[in-house]
Amino acid sequence: MGCGLMGSGIAEVCARAGYTTRVREINEDLLKRGRARIERSLSTAVERRKLEASERDAALSRLQGTTSLSDFADCDIVIEAATENPQIKRQTFEQLDQVCPPHAILASNTSSIPIVQMATATRRPEQVLGMHFMNPVPVMPLIEYVQAITTSESTLETARAFGESLGKRIIVSKDRAGFIVNFLLIPYLCESVRMFEQGFASKEDIDVGMMLGTSYPMGPFTLLDYVGLDTTLYIADILFDEFKDPRFAAPTLLRQMVTAGHLGRKTGRGFYNYEAGEQPPSR
Ligand code: 3HC
Repeated sequence: MGCGLMGSGIAEVCARAGYTTRVREINEDLLKRGRARIERSLSTAVERRKLEASERDAALSRLQGTTSLSDFADCDIVIEAATENPQIKRQTFEQLDQVCPPHAILASNTSSIPIVQMATATRRPEQVLGMHFMNPVPVMPLIEYVQAITTSESTLETARAFGESLGKRIIVSKDRAGFIVNFLLIPYLCESVRMFEQGFASKEDIDVGMMLGTSYPMGPFTLLDYVGLDTTLYIADILFDEFKDPRFAAPTLLRQMVTAGHLGRKTGRGFYNYEAGEQPPSR
């Protein structure tokens, strides 16, 4: 469900792994854009020799687009990757529950909303879990699973076998904000912004420090721009709400940049001004 940045990546890896994949968007235009993103990524995979051209074509032939939820009537697993809005998600899960066959597993790619909220909107809470993919989905080898207090062991095991068949490593977290990865990543990103905001170091030196000093593939400001400042702020606020811990308090500069619309790569400007030709430091 959803063919945005994450949804299209998820659909791509499912189709690549051999599954008939149906991806739903709210209108034809978004569907077209999502499919174009998948085609580009699959072609990049061919250029990088990760995939044969015939495998790309086969993956594309397994991929179907729809704007109708009723097309999920014969699915075995649904992965929801729509807007991070608890009300919309609850509503979506309620509808999916009505449309999908009784055996189907319903998963959410949420990075922040407790899974139990979606599970209890359905009549099959034991078949609902979190499947949190990492960005960029076709490249990152991890999926973080979230077991709500309602998720059954057999659902987790079936979903684990499915995730591994996508070629991903699976880790499992209990159902609390931030799960494993964002619980550790968000304070690190917020702390980096505070360090820059307080004038301790330049953003370039902080980025180079973490890249060359600890072998992170990207420094924190490059990663913030990549993930999106709005997404990071949203997750930080959810974490702060849940734990009331200052580690998760969003720095003023991050909040102001989001207000100004400097959201990162997607808007052409974040900590680095891509529109003006600025690029993050490379290795
Ligand atoms: N399909 C398949 N493989 C692809 C591909 C595609 N479309 N595009 C690139 N690749 C492969 C390349 O061939 C290369 O493989 P190799 O290492 O075997 O040679 C590898 O992916 C890396 O690609 P590039 O050389 O183009 O790019 P970089 O080396 O610059 O890496 C990056 C890009 C993978 C984005 C790397 O910088 C990175 O890992 N950054 C950190 C990303 C990260 O931390 N993501 C998690 C964010 S947190 C999150 O998502 C949670 C959310 O809730 C916020």
